[in-house]
Amino acid sequence: EGYISEINAFTPANAEELEQFRIKFLGRKGIVGEMFEEFKQVTPEEKRVLGKVLNVFKQTAEAKVNEFKEQFENHQQQHSGIDLTLPGEPINIGSRHPLSLVRKEIVEIFSRIGFNVAEGPEIEDDWHNFSALNFPQDHPARDMQDTFFIQKDTGSDKGDIALRTHTSSVQVRMMEAGKPPFRAIMPGRVFRNEAISARAHCIFHQVEGLYIDENVSFADLKQTLYYFVQELLGKGTEVRFRPSFFPFTEPSAEMDVTCLICGGEGCNVCKYTGWVEILGCGMVDPNVLDNCNIDSKKYTGFAFGMGIERITMLKYQVKDLRLFFENDVRFLKQFQSEI
Ligand code: PHE
Repeated sequence: EGYISEINAFTPANAEELEQFRIKFLGRKGIVGEMFEEFKQVTPEEKRVLGKVLNVFKQTAEAKVNEFKEQFENHQQQHSGIDLTLPGEPINIGSRHPLSLVRKEIVEIFSRIGFNVAEGPEIEDDWHNFSALNFPQDHPARDMQDTFFIQKDTGSDKGDIALRTHTSSVQVRMMEAGKPPFRAIMPGRVFRNEAISARAHCIFHQVEGLYIDENVSFADLKQTLYYFVQELLGKGTEVRFRPSFFPFTEPSAEMDVTCLICGGEGCNVCKYTGWVEILGCGMVDPNVLDNCNIDSKKYTGFAFGMGIERITMLKYQVKDLRLFFENDVRFLKQFQSEI
C-alpha cells in the first residue's frame, strides 16, 4: 500500500526521472518483479487475495510510466528544433532516360500493329550473331561490325563467343524456336568496338523487327515503316529508300526521313541534304530462313533495324551521343516532363 501511494504521488520532472522510476518498480530487478517472486511462496488461499493486489500494483506502475512517456516524447520533439507544422522537403523525382522514352514509344507504335517484343542474350555465339544470318566465314561483311570477342576457338559448332553486335541474333533465336508467322520487334543493347565520339559509342541500343508469313512483300515492308515514321516523327514526315547491302536481307535498303530540324531545306544536322538515315531493312534472305529451318519456298518476310540513340538525337535534337551514357542529371532532368 505504501508503494501504491508512492506511485500515485510520483510526478517526474523529466525523462531521466521517469526512467529511474521505471527501473525501480518495473525493471528486471525491480520491486514489482521481486514481489511476484515472493508471491510464488505463499499458500493458495493467500494467493487469491494477493494476486489481485499485485496486479493492481503492477498496472498502476505501468500506467504511470506510459502516461509520462508520451508527454516527454512530445516534449523532446518540440525542443529538438523540428517544427512539425512545416511542409515536408520535396522528394527528388527521377525521370525516364531519354533512350527508354524513345524505346517505349517505338514498342508502343509497333504493338498497335500487332508486333510482340522479343529479347535475347547480350553474350552470343557466332552462329546466332553471324553465321545463321548468312555472314560467310571470313567474309569482309563481318568487319562492318567490329566485334568484341569473349572467347575464340570454343570447339563448339556454334563458334566464337562475343558480345552481340546487333539484335538480329534474337531474330535467329525466335525463328529457331517457333513456327511462322512471326511478327516481333527486338529492343536491346548491342556492342561494337568503335571509337567513342559525338556520333558513335561502343555500346548502343537497337530495335530490330521481323515479320515472316506467307506472301509478305516489299510493299508490306514499306507501308509498315512508313506508318511507323508517321507515328514517331509526325504526320507528313517523308521517307525514301536507298538500295543497300546486308548479308541477311535481299534486296536490302536504308531508309531516310526528311530532316526534322530543317524540314527538308538543308541544315548541318542533315549535312544540307534534307534527309537523315534512320534504319536498315530488307527482305529476309532465303538462306537465313533455311538456316533457321523455315521453309523458304512457303514463307517470305522482312526485317529492319534501327539505333535508338540516332532516333533520340533526332527527336530531341541532342548533338552529342555521349550525353546518353554520362548520366549527368542536368541533362537527364530535362526529360522529366515526358512520360
Ligand atoms: N542488323 C543490322 C545492323 O545492325 C540492321 C538491319 C536489320 C538491317 C535488319 C536490315 C535488316 O546494322
